Amino acid sequence: MVALSLQKGLLTLVIVGILAVNVKGACNCAANECCSKFDFCGTTAEHCGEGCKSGPCTTTTTNDVSVPDIVTEGFFNGILNQAQGDCPGKSFYTRAAFLDALNSYNQFAKSGSSDDGKREIAAFFAHATHETGSLCYIEERDVPTTENYCDTTKTQYPCNPSKRYFGRGPLQLTWNYNYGAAGNENQFDGLGSPETVANDANISFKTALWYWMTNVHQSVSQGFGATIRAINGPVECDGKEPGKVQSRIQYYQQYCTQFGVAPGDNLSC
Ligand SMILES: *[C@@H]1O[C@H](CO)[C@@H](O)[C@H](O)[C@H]1NC(C)=O
Repeated sequence: MVALSLQKGLLTLVIVGILAVNVKGACNCAANECCSKFDFCGTTAEHCGEGCKSGPCTTTTTNDVSVPDIVTEGFFNGILNQAQGDCPGKSFYTRAAFLDALNSYNQFAKSGSSDDGKREIAAFFAHATHETGSLCYIEERDVPTTENYCDTTKTQYPCNPSKRYFGRGPLQLTWNYNYGAAGNENQFDGLGSPETVANDANISFKTALWYWMTNVHQSVSQGFGATIRAINGPVECDGKEPGKVQSRIQYYQQYCTQFGVAPGDNLSC
């Protein structure tokens, strides 16, 4: 009995040790490492196989969608042209920045069929269009001065008291823990200089794709409604903000039409 429990204790120690190493890496991976679906860095099939988010993923892509061929200048500028001339985003968001960010997230739009991939692109840009007013806004507007979006329970991502973690970028990255994690994965100081997301368009799109691949990508196959729930469900879904839900759906349907794919079922949430 004694020997057995000693063995068990050792085993626990070993497992905890492995976990601790992995957690430390939480997707701030070395160049030769993959970021697994659970945000662990490593080079094994568990990391680089199914669900792999970034790095040298080995998952055989199931479609041949070329994102740059779908997100053409015409498509991107078609959104930007809806924004008024004096919009700050007009001289900030660019297709080139989106494509630069895409290099860090090569699994985007690669799940399922080509049509699934196109629907994922349509969904991403539908949310971005809604969140930013057709790429007009870089920063969230009308944030109450007392609201810094600092969740102090997330002790892994301590807030800098002089910084504010309100919405910035294509998907309006918000909260200290999202800035911290997005920064770790994309080599910038998310907690110390959240304003980077509003100053560097490449990083801005990287944070949007980080959020997408971490929180939304896996919902795409369940229909557009599930992506709304993943982005802002508690605020908008279940009848809370039907106008906003409808706005997102309309952009999604429009982009699906432009890409020549059916929008699929379960559009609302
Ligand atoms: C953004 O990405 C483009 C394309 O990769 C690159 O040429 C440019 O220098 C980058 N900009 C910044 C500020 O890093």
